[in-house]
Amino acid sequence: MNDKRNKQHFGEPKKINTQIKHHILSNTLNTSLAIANNLCKVYKTDKVYTYIDLFAGRGVFEDYSKGSPLIAIDLLSQHNESGKNNFNDLQIVCTEKDDKNYCDLQRLLIEYPDENITCYSGSGEWESFSAQIQSILKDSGWGFIFADPYSTELDIESLKNALQSYSKLKDILVFFNFRTLARQDGRKYIQDIDRICKNIGINASELLDADENFSEIFEYKIKEHFKDLKKFVIGVGFPTTVKGQLINSDYFYLIFSTNTPVLVDAFLDSYEEMLEKYTNYSVNQQMPLFGNPDKNYIFDVLKTEYSGGCTLYDLYKHITDKFLSWKELTKTIKKVPTIKNVVSILNEFYNEGSIKYIANNDVFYKKNSKHGYEGNLRYSEAGKSADNMKNIRICLNSR
Ligand SMILES: C[S@@+](CC[C@H](N)C(=O)[O-])C[C@H]1O[C@@H](n2cnc3c(N)ncnc32)[C@H](O)[C@@H]1O
Repeated sequence: MNDKRNKQHFGEPKKINTQIKHHILSNTLNTSLAIANNLCKVYKTDKVYTYIDLFAGRGVFEDYSKGSPLIAIDLLSQHNESGKNNFNDLQIVCTEKDDKNYCDLQRLLIEYPDENITCYSGSGEWESFSAQIQSILKDSGWGFIFADPYSTELDIESLKNALQSYSKLKDILVFFNFRTLARQDGRKYIQDIDRICKNIGINASELLDADENFSEIFEYKIKEHFKDLKKFVIGVGFPTTVKGQLINSDYFYLIFSTNTPVLVDAFLDSYEEMLEKYTNYSVNQQMPLFGNPDKNYIFDVLKTEYSGGCTLYDLYKHITDKFLSWKELTKTIKKVPTIKNVVSILNEFYNEGSIKYIANNDVFYKKNSKHGYEGNLRYSEAGKSADNMKNIRICLNSR
């Protein structure tokens, strides 16, 4: 069947919303690869890194800009050429349903010069390759899975079933067409309900009986599913492009699922870069009249959830649990909860005397006070690893 979306998507220059998606994919995948590469040194057996692109597309757009499989190959190649590679094998797996897209992609993959990357590709629906994908995942210690449908084609239960047993050290990035889902939910046609149910993994009666609005149901269900697989489930909304311009909305969502807070940070950092590039969002902006809503939010979390103190890891997990709205971030002075932003707000509390830190010396800025090392947390050290974050305790100062 000829899907006209293929022409609209790949037969035109890459749209801004796709550039946003690819920027976030590229930065997050690159950091995933770097972290796995470091950890791989200490593991004796797990020496393979695999990137899996379930909805791989055509590989190239009308303006010759690269699609996700080629973006991934470039990153794997650069990694290989850096001289720092600790893996025995770097693999890429692509599945693509549309014959023409598959042929175009296949041609590009064959032409690709890097012999050090093993490419597997499958023509057809990714679900028909589930067994092969599972076997590849089983033999691959580390990896990254990208599921990028146009609309509601992804059946989340099938994805979970395919990944369930072998996703331990793999990160998962999934695209959702939120606007289409919300529109279909509004219309409530029976065939639409079925699609929504498959895409977000909800049963029809739960969907039809829910009192919440659709965005709450969406967030709740997506988190519920990915939390079965991973500790962190991060969601970010971003707009579509109309007549070459982004419209300020949360049309699409990218959901990133990982066990590694440093990767959450990389994902959010690249999202923040896109907000800075395409909107008037700026982390440096001041809001003298109303105070900083983020600051109050973080303080409220400390007071209500962790009055007895908590680790930076727990606090970060709590703060990043709420999906982010592009629309909201461009109109309020909320900050994207990157580790840098969260630590800078915590340091403000510290400097006001509202909190204290208990941690090893090397996460602090060096101060020439009689106490030796102390003072503000250095975000680069504090957020360097999950262990560092778990070893920093934050306690409210009693007044
Ligand atoms: C949004 S495009 C992918 C774009 C690509 N990931 C990129 O960033 O360059 C979605 C692709 O998924 C393909 N597709 C749709 N259903 C599929 C399925 N069940 N299995 C594999 N591919 C599918 C479509 O033919 C289309 O090429």
